[in-house]
Amino acid sequence: MTREHLFSQLWEQYTKQNPSALDVYNSFTTLGETVLNDHIAFRTFNDPRMDIKVLEKPFLKVGYIEKGSYVFETKKLIAKHYEIPNMPNEPKVFISQLVLEDFSKDFQNLIAERINSVENEVYKASDLILKGNIWGAPSFKIYNRLREESEYAAWLYVYGFRANHFTVSINSLKTLNTIEKVNQHLKDKGFKLNDSGGEIKGTPQELLQQSSIMAEKIEVRFSDGIHSIPACYYEFAIRYPDASGQLYNGFIAKSADKIFESTNFYDKK
Ligand code: NI
Repeated sequence: MTREHLFSQLWEQYTKQNPSALDVYNSFTTLGETVLNDHIAFRTFNDPRMDIKVLEKPFLKVGYIEKGSYVFETKKLIAKHYEIPNMPNEPKVFISQLVLEDFSKDFQNLIAERINSVENEVYKASDLILKGNIWGAPSFKIYNRLREESEYAAWLYVYGFRANHFTVSINSLKTLNTIEKVNQHLKDKGFKLNDSGGEIKGTPQELLQQSSIMAEKIEVRFSDGIHSIPACYYEFAIRYPDASGQLYNGFIAKSADKIFESTNFYDKK
């Protein structure tokens, strides 16, 4: 699979599941903007059948190399980011994994039951990253039980392997060229911003500012009924040059920590 093919399939899967993502994208392009992706993010469990080492494979194959690693202590996550050397306009890839052993036994058992419900062979597919939920209908009761310990886990339990979010590079925009303008544009269009830790995460001094909209709620068929829960979201990022004049390419853990909450369950529409 070529890089273009991999990303177009991820995009197709993302926008098909989250029609509002396409609305966001179109709201920029109708203003004459060209939308480039800053990064695309994925979630997984630290089980060796599907951990970061497994999910990074298709990206390493198309030229990505590992550039940074991150720890999110309160959310019990670790993450790595990848770039294509000397191609700054190619999206970075961000893969995080939940550290299962840091959770309660009951929680671990529920996840193990889900993971073990399919043959190990399933996890060896070269396109695992595109497979979505490979485990069959989830239980709404278990979804809510997992949420008590980790919203991240509850999301992954339901949606499986897919892009968790795409990220508009504000640096690539001509008119909406600040994060404040982008946020106002989104609010004008009726999107709900993630305001955990403030609408804007990070500062120009930290060389990266990010914002995101709350994940669109979609109807999911659970084994115990149809329920509307948050799916994927869209993120927005602007990067600033460091002392050497190069745009900063890493991530800020304390900002990403809050961005993760964009898939938290919320009551308001
Ligand atoms: Ni992100």
